[in-house]
Amino acid sequence: METSCDETAAAVLRDGREVVSSVVSSQIALHAEYGGVVPDLAARAHLEAIGPVVAEALSALDGGWDGIDAVAVTRGPGLAGCLLVGVLYAQGAALGRGVPMVGVSHMAGHVYSAWLSDTTLEPPYLSLVVSGGHTDVVELRGHGDARRLVSTRDDAAGEAFDKAARLLGLAYPGGPAIELAARGGDPSRFPLPNTRLDDALSFSGLKTALRYTVRDLGEGSLTDDGTPSDPVVVADLAAAFQATVVSQLLHALTTIADRTGAERIAVVGGVAANQALREAVTVHFAGLPVSIPPLSLCTDNAAMIGAAGWHRLAIHGADASGILVDPVLDEYA
Ligand code: KG4
Ligand code: ZN
Repeated sequence: METSCDETAAAVLRDGREVVSSVVSSQIALHAEYGGVVPDLAARAHLEAIGPVVAEALSALDGGWDGIDAVAVTRGPGLAGCLLVGVLYAQGAALGRGVPMVGVSHMAGHVYSAWLSDTTLEPPYLSLVVSGGHTDVVELRGHGDARRLVSTRDDAAGEAFDKAARLLGLAYPGGPAIELAARGGDPSRFPLPNTRLDDALSFSGLKTALRYTVRDLGEGSLTDDGTPSDPVVVADLAAAFQATVVSQLLHALTTIADRTGAERIAVVGGVAANQALREAVTVHFAGLPVSIPPLSLCTDNAAMIGAAGWHRLAIHGADASGILVDPVLDEYA
């Protein structure tokens, strides 16, 4: 089960790697008018959705709950009120059914989404983790053994997409909106700065540059909301922004891959749904096996939590009942 942010999700896995069912109930429509996730609304929506979502996931399994041997649930990182809904539901179910329960890191879930979708993939592999809250390069050295090698020092890539979309008057969530707007846009018309740090990623300079570029279009070219009124300008700015983010991510991944001699590469998290990023990584690492999950496993889902939980249970055993949520949990395996 997964309720860390704005998707209520439940999945049934067999042997950790076979997805029997995966159900995701998105709250995008609920939060769209606010331009971002409203934590209280999200928690309440999880509370309403978790029962039906779990029931739907179980309906794919003969015997429903009777066929379940263990329960995995996201215990962090994420919004505290949202995490609580999932953890309390999972705990009640596991106690009631007398099966073990394991609390899983959402980030470990993303790392394991590549292992889940690519049955030829085994650790060690290098994972670019790009989501709404995180941007890291992580090495999964063995099951249950991960280390983060590089991280963003300010915004996450997904967060940068979401903020850029707002500056351009595009809908929430920003990633898919920017990707759509960027099609046919000219990425070279508005040059944006490419931040290259040796030991970190950074997107705040890019975001600020985009803000100033929009401002400098002049009032006559802006809507009342201060966003560009010409769709061609929006397309060109979206294309420039996307190209710059992709280039920075590729640079960081390449640097670490060279340094560590990585032999397998994965790209995971919501931003891995971005076609330009998928293509850039696939083309650049053409000589290495590259795993990028299908879109349904890039954005938040419970199947990846089941896969990470499968390994966690095997390595660390079940959690005692009464596990706590941890909104800032910092774990990748
Ligand atoms: O992994 P995820 O579903 O949730 C978190 O764990 O944060 O990632 C959500 C993020 C959002 O910021 C969203 O704008 C971004 O992923 N995203 C994309 C695309 N689809 C989702 N970013 C760029 N291009 C996309 N196609
Ligand atoms: Zn996520």
